Amino acid sequence: MIDDLNQLEAEALATLADAADPDAVEAWRIEYLGSKGRLKALMPRMKDVPKDQKGAVGKRLNEVKKALEQAFKDKKSASGDAPSRSAGSILDITEPGVIESRHLGRSHIITRVIEELTEVFGRMGFAVAEGPELEDDEHNFIKLNIPPEHPARDPIDNFYVDDPATVTTPRMLRSQTSTVQIRTMEDAVAKGWGPPIKIVSPGRVYRPDTVDATHSFMFHQLEGLFIDRGVTMIDLKTTLMQFAHAYFGPDADIRLRPSFFPFTEPSAELDMMIALKPGTEPDWIELGGCGMVDPAVLENCGIDPEEWTGFAFGFGIERIAMGRYGIPDIRMLFENDVRFLSQL
Ligand code: DAH
Repeated sequence: MIDDLNQLEAEALATLADAADPDAVEAWRIEYLGSKGRLKALMPRMKDVPKDQKGAVGKRLNEVKKALEQAFKDKKSASGDAPSRSAGSILDITEPGVIESRHLGRSHIITRVIEELTEVFGRMGFAVAEGPELEDDEHNFIKLNIPPEHPARDPIDNFYVDDPATVTTPRMLRSQTSTVQIRTMEDAVAKGWGPPIKIVSPGRVYRPDTVDATHSFMFHQLEGLFIDRGVTMIDLKTTLMQFAHAYFGPDADIRLRPSFFPFTEPSAELDMMIALKPGTEPDWIELGGCGMVDPAVLENCGIDPEEWTGFAFGFGIERIAMGRYGIPDIRMLFENDVRFLSQL
C-alpha cells in the first residue's frame, strides 16, 4: 500500500508539472483529488492493511493527500485564475465587463466658457476670429490709435520680445485681444469680404501684473467687433443686454459708464449685475470696456468712416467664468489641480 501511495504521488506530481493550462490543472484535480479520484480509490484498501501497519499507512496517506493538495494550490496560483483561452473555451460577450475606475477627461473650464460665449454670440450672428498671441506694437497699439507716449505702452507694463527702444516694430505678447479687431478689418479689406464685419475673438492676453486672487500675468479676453452701415450705440447696448440675458438669465442686467479708450469714441465701461459667489446677492461686476469704433481706427484699416460705423467691446473671460461658476480665486483656474478641475 505504501508503495502504491508513493507511486501515485510521484505520478501525480509529474502529471501536474506537465499541466499547461488551467483546464488541465482542473482535470488533474478531479483525477487525483476528486471524490471519485485515484487517491480516494485507495481508501477502501485501508481495511486490508495489517493492524500493526495501519498507523504508518494512514500517516503516509495523509501526507500524500496534503502534498497533492499543496501542489495543486501552488500550481493554480502560479498559472493564475484567468479563464482558459484554449480551444473550446467560450467568450461570453453578454457578461458585464470588468469594472475599472475610468476617469473621463473634459475640457478646461475656461475652454468651456469660451465655447459657451462664442455660441451665444454665434446665435446673434457673430463669427469667431482669431489672431496671434505674439504680436507687434503696430497691431497692439499704433493702429488702435494708442500714441507712443501713452502710458499703456510702457515697457514695464508689457511683455516686449524686442526692445522698443531699438526695434522699429517691436514684437510683444499681446496685452489685449483688440489686436484682432485690426487684423480682421485689414483682412476683410485686403480680401474684399467686408465690411460688414461681425466677429468675436476669444484668446489669451499677457500683462506683467502681480499675481493675486483677481490678477494673473496671463488671462483671457473676449473681443467683439461689429461694423456695418448705421451701427449705433443702441446696437451695442442691445447686443450686450441680449448676451447678459442669454448667458446669465433673465435677471441679469448691464450698465454702461462713460469712460475713455483710445480706440473708441464714445467709450464706456461695461458692468454686469451678476452674483459672483453662489447664494450671494447679485452685484455690479466690472467686465470690460466698449464703445463706438473711433473713425481713426477704421481709417487705419482702410475702412471709410463716412460710410461705415461700428461698435467694439472687450471683456475678461476669467471674470465671467468666476461669476458663473462661483470660483473665488483666479489662480485656481491655472494651477491645474485635478481636485478643483473635476468639480466643475
Ligand atoms: N482692450 C481693452 C482692455 O484690454 C478692453 C476694450 C475696451 C476692448 C473697449 C474694446 C473696447 O473692444 O471697445 O482693457
